Amino acid sequence: MNTPRLRLGVNVDHVATIRNARGGRHPDPVRAAKLAIAAGADGITAHLREDRRHIRDDDIARLKAEIDKPLNFEMAATPEMTAIALKTQPHAVCLVPEKRTERTTEGGLDAVKQRAQLAPVVHALKHAGIRVSLFIGAAPAQIEAAVDLGAPVIELHTGSWCDALIENRTAEANAEWQMIRAGALLADSLGLEVHAGHGLDYASAETIAALPQVVELNIGHFLVGESVFEGLAETVKFMRAAMDRGRARVHAP
Ligand code: PXP
Repeated sequence: MNTPRLRLGVNVDHVATIRNARGGRHPDPVRAAKLAIAAGADGITAHLREDRRHIRDDDIARLKAEIDKPLNFEMAATPEMTAIALKTQPHAVCLVPEKRTERTTEGGLDAVKQRAQLAPVVHALKHAGIRVSLFIGAAPAQIEAAVDLGAPVIELHTGSWCDALIENRTAEANAEWQMIRAGALLADSLGLEVHAGHGLDYASAETIAALPQVVELNIGHFLVGESVFEGLAETVKFMRAAMDRGRARVHAP
């Protein structure tokens, strides 16, 4: 079997979080995006939240205009965000759930229950030629709902797995990992393209890179945090190397 290359999408939201702590323009997420691309990122991800707590509208417009790799625009399935996506025409949109009170995207979409809200958004984006993915948990019902909605791509939420790993809750981490593995297999067998993200660091990215069905990882918080110590370019290169080590294990005996 020919294993597809594993792409790295660098999420620059938290460069904007640091900028917004003081207002103004520094540090600039677009500069970070260009640096990440120069260091080996295959694409850039940015989440425009309803409250604009990190990425702002002008960041999205500048990312689209200034970067020379695919832009993955994360958004809630609302009329406001759909209009912005249709105007911006990013390479891809990842639909995520959004709650005002959450610190980060806490869980996946409920693609089963939110079918009525998601269907017209998926349709409009696809019609505009934008690759649509749904950020979901690995439960079979969610994966089947993504197929039903006509989304060509899913991004599996790795947050609970990563939290359990970091907190040494081994049994839970193993259970989450089995779910992710089974989910990736099922989604692939149903013809979906499989991405993964949330909470990934060098170790978890290396582990998940060994799943041949997963073709893209989207990683933000760890990369931006680690750049404080190592610089963004080095951090992206280390991450790329970790992913390549994991990928090399796909065919290892
Ligand atoms: N993928 C999706 C859909 C997300 O919402 C996020 C967080 O914004 C990420 C990936 C990246 O997660 P993290 O910042 O924890 O690496």
